[in-house]
Amino acid sequence: MQEGIQVSNLNIYYGDFLAVENVNVGIEPRSITALIGPSGCGKSTFLRSLNRMHEVIPGAYSKGSVIIDGEDIYAEGVDPVRVREHVGMVFQRPNPFPTMSIADNVLAGLKLNNRKISKSDAEQVVEESLRGANLWDEVKDRLDRPGSSLSGGQQQRLCIARAIAVKPNVLLMDEPCSALDPISTLAIEDLMQELQKDYTIVIVTHNMQQAARVSNKTGFFNIEGTGKPGHLVEYDDTEKMFSNPSKKETEDYVSGRFG
Ligand SMILES: Nc1ncnc2c1ncn2[C@@H]1O[C@H](COP(=O)(O)OP(=O)(O)OP(=O)(O)O)[C@@H](O)[C@H]1O
Ligand SMILES: [Mg+2]
Repeated sequence: MQEGIQVSNLNIYYGDFLAVENVNVGIEPRSITALIGPSGCGKSTFLRSLNRMHEVIPGAYSKGSVIIDGEDIYAEGVDPVRVREHVGMVFQRPNPFPTMSIADNVLAGLKLNNRKISKSDAEQVVEESLRGANLWDEVKDRLDRPGSSLSGGQQQRLCIARAIAVKPNVLLMDEPCSALDPISTLAIEDLMQELQKDYTIVIVTHNMQQAARVSNKTGFFNIEGTGKPGHLVEYDDTEKMFSNPSKKETEDYVSGRFG
């Protein structure tokens, strides 16, 4: 089995509108990929096509292939719910269930997938996942308090704990720090470095310093104009993308000479 993510000839549509055109990219397992590019170029759309969240939008579909850890996630008969267990997602705004307890928030993904677990197993999953998300020490004495009683940065780490509780192999994060203060942002970035040992991570960010700090690889998406599809201009080692990219477009964007 080939680990990691192989995307070939991927075209992503909203109805008649081709939003992202012909993406071809290979993402290594246990690496962090940052996706950058101007607003509307299709970063979120592309990210959502990696765990079949895109097709949840009415009329939305994609063509091409996405092979994740050896499995073509768009092959006939593949259950999207199972794909999403394998490929977890964290969103821009922390979205814990506000009235649900911290512990139940961690378990929410498992319960959603109808897995029955014993009380002691549940306790273990809660502790493991919160430790994995670097949140355990801050919340271990108040696991029965509501998710909404946490700070924004803690809520985002709670969402990461919820995502890793189902034991995915891949974590997709769409601007996970954009609603957070610098300290919480650093906490999430440290956490990503930790998680990289076990997970393949793809993160969308508008923060160039963040992309340069946390990722091994960077993908630059761009768009020619409104109504045109976005496309992946270049994908390479982050160091190279920020110091000596192959395409002028990339250089203009990363050096801030864009537009
Ligand atoms: N639900 C939707 N229905 C129809 N079109 C959509 C939908 N979501 C996004 N689009 C369109 O698809 C294109 C890509 O949008 P997308 O949200 O993927 O961009 P993005 O790169 O993530 O932008 P941003 O940096 O602002 O988050 C845009 O033209 C957008 O208007
Ligand atoms: Mg987006």
